[in-house]
Amino acid sequence: MCGIVGYIGNNNAKDVLLEGLKRLEYRGYDSAGIAVRCDSSLVEIVKSEGKIDNLVKKISSLNINGTKGIGHSRWSTHGKPSEINAHPHHSDDYNVVGVHNGIIENYQELKEKLLRHDYSFYSETDTEVLIKLIDYYYKKYNIGPVDAINKAIVRSRGSFALALMFKDYSDQIWFAKKGSPLIIAKGEGESFLASDVPALLSYTNKVYYVDDFECGSISKNEIKFYDLNGDDITDTKKLVSIDWEADSVNKGIYPYYMIKEIHEQPEAIKETINAYLDKNNNIDFLHIGISEKYLKSLDEIYIYACGSAYHVGLVGAQIIENITGINARVELASEFKYRNYHMNPNALAIIISQSGETKDTYEALLKCKESNIKTLAICNVKGSTITRDADFTALTYAGPEIAVATTKAYSCQLVVLYLFSIALAFSKGQIDISRYRSLIEDISTIPQKIESILNNESTIQSLAQRLVNKKDVFFIGRGIDYALSMEASLKLKEISYIHSDSYAAGELKHGTLSLIDESVMVIAILTQPDLFEKMVSNIVEVKSRGGKVISLTTDNFNVQVKSDYNITIPTINPLFTPSLSIIPLQLLAYYTSIGKGIDPDKPKNLAKSVTVE
Ligand code: G6P
Repeated sequence: MCGIVGYIGNNNAKDVLLEGLKRLEYRGYDSAGIAVRCDSSLVEIVKSEGKIDNLVKKISSLNINGTKGIGHSRWSTHGKPSEINAHPHHSDDYNVVGVHNGIIENYQELKEKLLRHDYSFYSETDTEVLIKLIDYYYKKYNIGPVDAINKAIVRSRGSFALALMFKDYSDQIWFAKKGSPLIIAKGEGESFLASDVPALLSYTNKVYYVDDFECGSISKNEIKFYDLNGDDITDTKKLVSIDWEADSVNKGIYPYYMIKEIHEQPEAIKETINAYLDKNNNIDFLHIGISEKYLKSLDEIYIYACGSAYHVGLVGAQIIENITGINARVELASEFKYRNYHMNPNALAIIISQSGETKDTYEALLKCKESNIKTLAICNVKGSTITRDADFTALTYAGPEIAVATTKAYSCQLVVLYLFSIALAFSKGQIDISRYRSLIEDISTIPQKIESILNNESTIQSLAQRLVNKKDVFFIGRGIDYALSMEASLKLKEISYIHSDSYAAGELKHGTLSLIDESVMVIAILTQPDLFEKMVSNIVEVKSRGGKVISLTTDNFNVQVKSDYNITIPTINPLFTPSLSIIPLQLLAYYTSIGKGIDPDKPKNLAKSVTVE
């Protein structure tokens, strides 16, 4: 989704805005723009199509000096990517200039109203309509920014995080939020706003989260918050410390964020495991409010998430069912809203989200709350919307994840679900103390085993050459391997643009086999001892139709004779193989993307944090 930034202080605003936009580029990158107030009557707006670098180039030849401004990186919804549709947008007299992340659903109706009042429109965007609506109320009632913003908010349906500059209030930048994320931060003689923490980390790690239906202003020395009635609520807002290092948003020695984040996995997983083990190596969820007694009382688990986080849920549900004796139901958050199944009051709903801002996932959380189902958020961003509304939050300690395709957050979510499942199984008396200990011991070996896979990166890099020219790749697996293969397939398709799909291996014969020929690559994942032989038969089925096969298995099995290429991972408890299997498959996707000359950090048409339905 789009990213917005705002700055007011003593430094050159354009530098702060461009740096912030670069940090937020993962939220959208089809066009970008900034508006800088050069003096009380002049606002310079510069926009360009394409990545932020295009904007940087354009601005470098211009003389833009001012210490206040707003910026935007766009992921288009209304109106194609183009300079005219890029933000900032403005009222015709530049009385109001603004940037917006979100969607105004009733923009057409609002536009017609404004057309009747002699407004005209230069872009196809809903944002231009919203900016002009604020301008309309501001002028009609002569009521100042807070009331004009609030009147426009009440009339608008949809979601927004807004940053605005008013001509008459040249020492302030105004903001408002509903549905889309927005944070505010204060430095020494300067203030900031942004869609997300990474944009501001090099300036400050102390932020305010703006809640829905709040608006306010930032100036050099003051931050103000107001509610929908226009009442000052600044005293009620809490400053939150983010414990991420400023350096963690840099690429360091790596050419892309994705490969950096792949390599950060051992450390991130270690930190995440440690956060849920006490000094005696017992699993501890009590510090986030989940007691053994509560776990014991549960008789069903629901899991709701989108994208890769949903794939974590698919693995987690199988582990829960394997060891806890209770059922787990996993649903795409975007589909859950259309389902009307009876919800068990003794169930816990686990909501998984890296960003904590995905709209579909957040709505699943709200639906659980309406049904009086307790919610546990597994989330990477402290203070994000989902963590604020969930009953319990288990943070993952992946640090900021910038590449659009998730790697380290996925891996950290997996280990939290492993630990949760073991705690649940133990509290329900489904596993004894020695199994409990040995499962924890197995999980603790994951980081070092991932290290050993990463040490063999060059093998995967060469194997990627076999994929760059492929048009179709199928991933197959059974059980936990099937769940894992869905994530592997998503990784490959999102960053290499190769059509790839994941199939339950047992389903091949029910349709997919007709697609297999010499041009197709099949990646078979077979890490589960009890399913091994069946998987070997599936490999043979593919081979006998001319398909090429890459098999992935633990190093205690040998399928080399049956496949064209083989990847091995260290042996581990079969429940936890997804944590190891995913590593070479992330690398395979990454190097295939590189081999095709694609920027793996910013796949076309995708955004990391999706705050629309
Ligand atoms: C987007 C991203 C995916 C991510 C999904 C859910 O589609 O491109 O990588 O898995 O959103 O995001 P979340 O932040 O909720 O985990």
